[in-house]
Amino acid sequence: MMKDIIRVDNLTKEFKKKDKTIIALDAVSFTLREGEILSVVGPSGSGKSTLIRCISLLYENTSGNVFFNGTNIKTLKGKDLLRMRKDLSIIFQDPYSALDNKFSAIELIKEPLAFYNKKGLLDKKHTKKEIEDEALSAFRRVSLKESDKNKNIRSFSGGEMQRIGIARAIVTRPKVLLCDEITSSLDMENRASILSLIRNINKEMNTSILFVSHDIKSVKSISDRILVLKNGKAIEIGDAEKIINRPENEITKRLLEE
Ligand SMILES: Nc1ncnc2c1ncn2[C@@H]1O[C@H](COP(=O)(O)OP(=O)(O)OP(=O)(O)O)[C@@H](O)[C@H]1O
Ligand SMILES: [Mg+2]
Repeated sequence: MMKDIIRVDNLTKEFKKKDKTIIALDAVSFTLREGEILSVVGPSGSGKSTLIRCISLLYENTSGNVFFNGTNIKTLKGKDLLRMRKDLSIIFQDPYSALDNKFSAIELIKEPLAFYNKKGLLDKKHTKKEIEDEALSAFRRVSLKESDKNKNIRSFSGGEMQRIGIARAIVTRPKVLLCDEITSSLDMENRASILSLIRNINKEMNTSILFVSHDIKSVKSISDRILVLKNGKAIEIGDAEKIINRPENEITKRLLEE
């Protein structure tokens, strides 16, 4: 049986706004299995980004728990917390705002590796040369031209920038990748190639992936399973083939008709 790498248990997140409370996540429970791609789909405002932010501790949830490899992430401190952050990388929708434009592509990819190396959290202590080599290997893995590695990131196209974001996220060999609408700002051609890149990373590096998208049809080709969210509630979860071809819930059916 496949092991669960992340277990989300009754996760609730409320935002208090003056006189009203927004329930962004409402008692959501599911697991991410080791080695799978689980897509999380749902309309705008359904809580997808909030879910990613709670799992990665960017938001503190209101109630419920998230377990990473069996450990409640709320209990992690110091070095254990840093290790969790290394093992759980996020890729955001908009690479322009996610990447600091003062740096070259390769500098941005090297940075997390150098940071965790300094903290002693890589499998072994890396020399400067080894960091260079690993960063370059991540750069190549996302199909960027080696001769472009020292260019400032402002000189790359949107699709290339997102590849740099992916290289930066995978360079530390995380166990889990959290992808938040990473193809939404791209054209059709770039979307397809980024999806296939994500599938390759999943297969070759055995990375478990939570893939958030508002478009259920676009995740069909890469998902092992699909979770449908609406108004902060988990509506339906199951094998991708089943959810797409024989959805049970009306909300899922409507998403498929859009
Ligand atoms: N920082 C915040 N403060 C207040 N409310 C928030 C905050 N972040 C999210 N929300 C609210 O929580 C709900 C869920 O938002 P969230 O961004 O998670 O949805 P989403 O599914 O990612 O939407 P989209 O597809 O537009 O990215 C929305 O009602 C949103 O307005
Ligand atoms: Mg979002």
